[in-house]
Parts: sequence; structure tokens; C-alpha cells
Amino acid sequence: MDKNTAEKEIEKLSNEIEEHNYKYYVLSQPTISDYEFDKLLDRLITLEKQYPELIKPDSPSQRVGGAITKEFGTVKHKYPMISLSNTYSIEELKDFDERVRKTVGDRYEYVCELKYDGVAISLIYEKGLLTQAVTRGDGIQGDDVTTNVKTISSVPLRIKGHDYPDEFEVRGEIFMPLKGFRKLNAEREEEGDEPFANPRNFASGTLKMQDSAEVARRKLDNVSYYLLGQKVHIDEHYECLMKIKQWGFKVSEYVKLVKNIEGVLNFVAKWETDRHKLPFEIDGIVIKVNSVSQQNVLGFTAKSPRWAVAFKYQPLQVETVLNSISYQVGRTGVITPVANLHPVLLAGTTVRRASLYNADNINKMDMRVGDTVYVEKGGEVIPKVTGVNIAKRPPHTHRIEFITVCPECHTKLVRSEGDARHVCPNHKNCPPQIKGRIEHFVGRKAMNIESMGSETIELLLKHNLIHDASDLYDLTAKQIEPLERMAEKSAANIIAGIEASKTTPFERVLFALGIIHVGETLAKKLARRFKSMDALMRADMDTLLGVSDVGKTIAGALIDYFKDEDNRRLIKKLENKGIRFAVSAEEMSGDTDILQGKSFVISGVFTGHSRDEMIDLIEKNGGKHVGSVSSKTSFIVAGENMGPAKLEKAKRLNIPVLSEEEFMRMINKK
Ligand code: IVH
Repeated sequence: MDKNTAEKEIEKLSNEIEEHNYKYYVLSQPTISDYEFDKLLDRLITLEKQYPELIKPDSPSQRVGGAITKEFGTVKHKYPMISLSNTYSIEELKDFDERVRKTVGDRYEYVCELKYDGVAISLIYEKGLLTQAVTRGDGIQGDDVTTNVKTISSVPLRIKGHDYPDEFEVRGEIFMPLKGFRKLNAEREEEGDEPFANPRNFASGTLKMQDSAEVARRKLDNVSYYLLGQKVHIDEHYECLMKIKQWGFKVSEYVKLVKNIEGVLNFVAKWETDRHKLPFEIDGIVIKVNSVSQQNVLGFTAKSPRWAVAFKYQPLQVETVLNSISYQVGRTGVITPVANLHPVLLAGTTVRRASLYNADNINKMDMRVGDTVYVEKGGEVIPKVTGVNIAKRPPHTHRIEFITVCPECHTKLVRSEGDARHVCPNHKNCPPQIKGRIEHFVGRKAMNIESMGSETIELLLKHNLIHDASDLYDLTAKQIEPLERMAEKSAANIIAGIEASKTTPFERVLFALGIIHVGETLAKKLARRFKSMDALMRADMDTLLGVSDVGKTIAGALIDYFKDEDNRRLIKKLENKGIRFAVSAEEMSGDTDILQGKSFVISGVFTGHSRDEMIDLIEKNGGKHVGSVSSKTSFIVAGENMGPAKLEKAKRLNIPVLSEEEFMRMINKK
């Protein structure tokens, strides 16, 4: 396709995709299937790859992410981002209403809104395009998180309609819907990583990630609640909300315009109970004077507007008795203390157990068996114990001594510097760890041996038929048949499932090994980058650190894992059984050796490719990607915002610096 036609096609596709995006994420009324949507997007991305110069900053392809932010720039806010003053009681709300009345007289209205519990964001639009997204920071200046925010589907990249001022700012909240949060947290725990404490931490952590593709995957949401700008001429806040809704912003569907404080109190009462049914977390409600001219009369104090106030709900809390504490041993040996509670009803479910996280947490609360404790429910799947009602403490209680040996294998527990968690170091022989590893290995996202559940694994371990994952491949139907609850058919099924797993692609095999911190995404990344287990096992610290999202902890975990004799033996044995330890020839097609013997450092942000794609291209063409500049570096490929220190060093060592285009020409891609 020639460039002119491509340009028109890209324009048409972009409009179409953004319209569907709006229907899906803002209106929640999709008119095409996800499959059809993905096809349109794929088509756009293919065209843009062919003509990278035609990629616009508001292209829907930006939502997929890929660009890396090494450092978030600091931006001064045009209007300071101040917060609201909080109220906690009906009395305080009535006082607020009195103050408003004294200043503006008897005629005024309020807009009641939910107070979303997320991260405040300022979105700047110029000539209808999103140009900058900035966090609150200290209120005066915040971080530029534009690349990451562009992946959030409910943030318009381009304004709909034509009646918008040249420059304006829309403020809102970036938050994580509960369903997605729970799913991702469950995955995290599965990978042996500590789960996020709550959706708000999750949202703020995600916004600060370097890899925007990962941000895109996490599916944050945005709701807008405030319009600002010199040329905005709208008289009422409620109208502003309706206007920005027309422009394509997602505005909360729970906003309510009320005539007086009674209306506000009704709204407060309604959400006091109904808030637990929402698909996201709120920590209160926000009340705003509707008239903009009255807002101006009321003005601001040094810290907050006088025309708005937040009302904070007490977190939902019940009291119950702590009966005992038990300790669970995870796949990676981490010990989790669990409170066994006298059953109690909380937000519609009966709570019997709650995580106590770690020893520090227990000590901090000075919790004792027999104590009456407070149990709260937040965004977490499991409720948490937040404190002790000391007044109700029975006589003769004792401080809780955290266990010092593993409850399962009686090995002395260890606690490493700076880590709140106790770990059973007997990874080799501790039964729940062995079982956990095998369960992880056969799991759906790993080797996907469906015929094999937790009970079967338990049974095989009990009969000494397996000791680690590789033993699965020695099993015969004859060995399984005589076991409890087994028969000819079920045994044959199990063997067939194990056999079928031999074609599992390398990236999933790598995930299946259960190396600490190596989740699904990272396993994929490592497989793509290193191509084979051999190459990955040979990689040194510096090479590993060159992989985006791999820091010292993860690189260290990989090196430690491969250093271990037993792990090496396990890998060798699996390899001998025919498990895939390299990407297949099909996946490797298109490889050349144009860059053979040359090493590359890449730095900055690229326009046509993500950082990972650049590294992929280097390796697909026989070159080597390294993390830092040294005299052995052959070339530096520099994108935008390359760090000055690197550039300086490159100059000093006389290393040629290539632009993205020059590099593409080098591998004959343009
Ligand atoms: S209005 C000047 N409305 O709560 C007006 N804030 O301390 C400023 N928030 O930082 C904010 N939902 O992050 C407003 N419907 C809503 C809100 C909301 C959540 C957050 C916001 C702000 C904090 C108030």
C-alpha cells in the first residue's frame, strides 16, 4: 500500500477504533465483539509498523503500550492540585453547609459525588489532544506519567466534538477496579511475590512502572471529576461534568445534583451501605457547591477549597475473638500466619480466617490468643485484622511467640535482612514446598496437565512415586491404577495428560519451574530474549540486568536458581524427557547474523519500536544486547531522552551512536 492510501486508512481505522473504545470503556455499551476490535487494532498496528512516521500521538495503538519511561520528568502544575478537607460526622457536614450559607446566601445547590480511592491525575489537553498526564506529587509539581496514562482506555487521547477550548485541564482519579485487582493479586501470590496491599497502592505502583506494556496489561480505569481552564465558560459544576462527558471522558454514573443539605445527607446514607456493592473502592463522598460563581466567592484556604468537602466513611469493621493462630507454608517457603477467628458476619460473608501477614504485624498490635480483635474488609480478597480491643482482653494472656521452626518439617526458620517474612529454608525436603512446586508445575498457565489435580499429586507423593516434577515423566499407568480412587481410565488419562505436556512452549516451561519472581510475563520475556535454557543459564548479572523489568533482586534469584545443583539436575532430566528448553524453529524464523560479534547498548525511548522490540531485533540478527556502556560496546542505539551520562561515556570511549533509523538501516529494515 502506498503512503497516501496508508495515511487515509490509518486515519479511518484510528477514528473507528477510538469510537469503539469509547463505547466499550466509557459508555459500557460495546457494539462489536472483542475479536473484531482486536482485528481492527492489529490492522492499524501493521500499517503503522510499515510507516512509523505516520504514527500520531493520539493513535489508539498507544494504548497497547510498549514505550519505556526510564525516568519520569517533573512538571509544575498550572493550577496547584490541592486536596479537600475531610469531615467524619453529620455535624461537621452541617457546619460546612452553614459556612456556605453565610457566604453565598440561601440559594445554592450541591453536587454529590463518590470519592474514588485511587491516584489523582491531571490531564492536559491542547487543541483537543492529550499532551500531558501528571500525578499530584506535592501539589505544586508532579510526575509526568503520560506514556503510561495513554494506555488507560477510559482516558480520551483526542476530544470528541468541536466545542472545546484550545487549552484545558481535566482532573480525575486513576483507580483499579476490584475484579481485576483480585485476579492480578492472586497471580502474584502464585508467583511467590507479595500481593499488593490494596487497589490504591496497586494503581499508584502501576502508574510508576517503566514498561507501559505492563501498565496496559493491568487495565487501570479513570474517572474525571473536575474541569479547569482559562477559557472554560460554564456556570455550573454539574454542567462541566456533562460537558466533559460529551467530550469523551468517563464521568461517574453516580453523580447527583441535590437542592440542599438534606439531599446531601440522603446521599451519604445511601452510600454508607451501598458502597460495598460497588465494583471499585471508595473512601467517602465529595460534596461540591454547584455554581461556579459561588465557588469563586467562597474561594480557597491555604490547603483546600471552601466550596467543597469530603465526607469519610469509617471502614467497615466488626469485633470477634481470636481463637488461635496457624501457620501456612507456601511453595517458596514463606510462612504466613493466619488468624482463626470466632465466625463473624462482615459485609454479607462469614469470616473465619484472616491473614496476619507476618510477625512484625502481630507484634505491632500485641495481639494475643483470646483477644477481641477488629476485623476489616477492604479491597483484599481476605479480610484483615487491624487491631485489638485491649479493654476486652481476658486475664492471663501471653504475647504471641512466632514459631521458630517450620510447622511441617521442623527446620529452623530464617529471616533475611530487611524482609518481614519468615522462610523455611528446607526448600528441598519440606513437604508443602515440594507439593506446591509440583502443583505450580502442572498448573494451567504452566505445563497445563489438566488430568492432574492437587489430590493426585498428594497421592503420588504419599506413595513415593514422585519426588519432583521430572518424576512425572517416569510414571506408568500400571503404577497409578492400584492407588486409592484410581482406575484404568483415570490412570490412562493422567499419563496422556503428562505426555501431551511435552509440547508446551519454552516460555511456559520456564514459568513452570517456579523460579522465584519469574511470573508469566517475565518468563515470556526471558524466553524471547535468550531463546534457550542454555543461553539463559549462561547469562551473567550484567546481561540479565539489560532485560527491562529485571532488577538486582530478580537477576540474583535467577543466578541463584541456576547455581543450585539440584535445579540443574531437574532441568537436565526434564530435557532428557523431551521437554522444550528452547524456542522452536518456527518462532525463530527471520533470524540473520548481520550483527554477529557486535554488542549494543540501547538507551532512551524510541518512536517506532518498544525497547523490547529493539532488543529482540538486535538478537534476531545475531547481535548482543548489553546493559551498560564499556570499551567493549560496539554501538549505542539512542532514542529520545537518552541519559546524558551514557552519552558522555560513549563520546569518551569513541563508541558510535546510532539513531533508531540508522539502526533499522543497518539490519536492512528500511
Ligand atoms: S474534587 C478542588 N472529586 O480525593 C477539587 N476529588 O482530597 C479537588 N477524589 O486529591 C478534588 N474522588 O484525588 C474530587 N469525586 C471526586 C473525587 C476526588 C476522589 C480524590 C482526589 C483528591 C482527594 C481529595
